[in-house]
Amino acid sequence: MKRLQDRVAIITGGAGGIGAATARRMADEGALVVVADINLERAQSVANDLNGRGSAVQFDAGNTDSIKAMVEFAVAQYGRLDILHNNAALTSPEVIHKDTTAVDIPFATWNAVMNVNVKGYMAACKYAVPVMLKSGGGSIINTASGSGFVGDLTRIAYGTSKGAIIALTKYVATQHGRQGVRCNAIAPGLILTEASKNTVPELLEMISNHVLTPRLGRPEDIAALAAFLASDESGFINGETIRANGGSLEHQTHMHELDEFMRNALKAN
Ligand SMILES: NC(=O)c1ccc[n+]([C@@H]2O[C@H](COP(=O)([O-])OP(=O)(O)OC[C@H]3O[C@@H](n4cnc5c(N)ncnc54)[C@H](O)[C@@H]3O)[C@@H](O)[C@H]2O)c1
Repeated sequence: MKRLQDRVAIITGGAGGIGAATARRMADEGALVVVADINLERAQSVANDLNGRGSAVQFDAGNTDSIKAMVEFAVAQYGRLDILHNNAALTSPEVIHKDTTAVDIPFATWNAVMNVNVKGYMAACKYAVPVMLKSGGGSIINTASGSGFVGDLTRIAYGTSKGAIIALTKYVATQHGRQGVRCNAIAPGLILTEASKNTVPELLEMISNHVLTPRLGRPEDIAALAAFLASDESGFINGETIRANGGSLEHQTHMHELDEFMRNALKAN
């Protein structure tokens, strides 16, 4: 018997790098997966690759009616809902470009990011929890980010939205945990999706210098953690945010410089 055998899962942003890897992983583990995304064509292509265990639905995480319809689609398709992976985010270059500092960000950009990244996650919980309770509970997994823990020189709306997701996770767990609904978050560090592989090489190198593993993260790393959090094996974990970042936020800020200093000192001797 597989770990997620016949559990019904919705994965939002399921057409993207992390979402598609999670859809594949959960289907491999026996789940029936609804690949939900604003981009139906790509969602359909991900669902088609799940050996008959997937279906695709178009939805907009910025529109609460559409989120309600997404949950209804899953129930109509498979009769229940056990797993919700809130994972969609506004990651388009136009939004990233305008999401700057408190002084410079347009209010419209702030509102758009909060609408999709925070209200979208809350609304999916709003419609999913009552359905999960009908079959005794379920597991909600929210994709946050390392940006929710630390400040950065840009992307104030994105970082703040990810901090809000960490708080939302604790509230949903607190309010519905005793009823059998677990809610946890994953905070990835840089994950090499098709999009992030195109990041400027200098930035990738800076990030690599602060990862305590020999490699950067892959979508499959996050998918494996999401499948664990969806399964009963994580049954005593609730309200938690797990950082999956190769240790990039777990060391002294001067680690890289100290490493270089020590190498140079060794060379000099
Ligand atoms: N890749 C990373 O390095 C990284 C790091 C930390 C956190 N994350 C988080 O992981 C999650 C997935 O990111 P990814 O790297 O796979 O990005 P991605 O851009 O590949 O995927 C995001 C998906 O969300 C969909 N989407 C965007 N707006 C939507 C909307 N309004 N309604 C429905 N779907 C919408 C997109 O079409 C896309 O398929 C995001 O929440 C992101 O913030 C990613």
